Amino acid sequence: MGPIAIVSALLQEQDGLLGQLDNPVRNRHGGREFWSGQLRGKEVVLGLSGIGKVAAATTATTLVTRLGVGSIVFTGVAGGLGPGVSVADVVVATELMQHDVDASPVFPRYEIPMYGKARFACDTLLTQKLVAASGAALKESAASGAKVHQGLIASGDRFVSSAVESARLISALNGAGFNVLAVEMEGAAVAQVCHDFEVPFAVVRTISDRADDAAHVDFPKFVAEVASRYARGIILELVENL
Ligand code: ADE
Repeated sequence: MGPIAIVSALLQEQDGLLGQLDNPVRNRHGGREFWSGQLRGKEVVLGLSGIGKVAAATTATTLVTRLGVGSIVFTGVAGGLGPGVSVADVVVATELMQHDVDASPVFPRYEIPMYGKARFACDTLLTQKLVAASGAALKESAASGAKVHQGLIASGDRFVSSAVESARLISALNGAGFNVLAVEMEGAAVAQVCHDFEVPFAVVRTISDRADDAAHVDFPKFVAEVASRYARGIILELVENL
């Protein structure tokens, strides 16, 4: 089994982990920087995907085919959509979908053509461990009121930044039978690549904003001040229990 990849979209989401990496070795592929080493004695590769589904898919493919990782965990931030999914809460995906895919009427709305489905399920064991790690990390941090949620995350190449847009998105997804907790821009792309290569994956997202009219202010503030600490806490707990 190859090392576990820990992937984030942004450097601020990852730099707390880089400081904890033992024997770091840097590799560059496809314009991306990857760091191999050990976190708490476990072999890992830290990678930055950049933003959006194509960037994330390229990163996941590179991790699997060039760096030989055995599993992928995506850690980052997301906009909260579900009721009660508040800023500073954590959402662990049980499954992911692409909210901007529409090949209708040839295929049902949201279905990924040729896959026969819209949703990609996360690895059950890795996800369970991520839920436990998130709970433990929240307990250790000052964020005592923060909750851990589990469910569907939707990805798309769009930063959702108004209450009108997020209400429209929730209503469209609910109407198609999808009960979505959070929105981000990479997770479902990683899920599709991992499905293709039969690599276990999991996704954890801290809620940086509510995808509403304040999202453009809340998101950068959260990323700058909190995201790295959350990612470090959760991932260190996770690798200790792998
Ligand atoms: N990532 C964090 N917040 C987001 C939002 N509001 N829309 C899309 N991706 C996000």
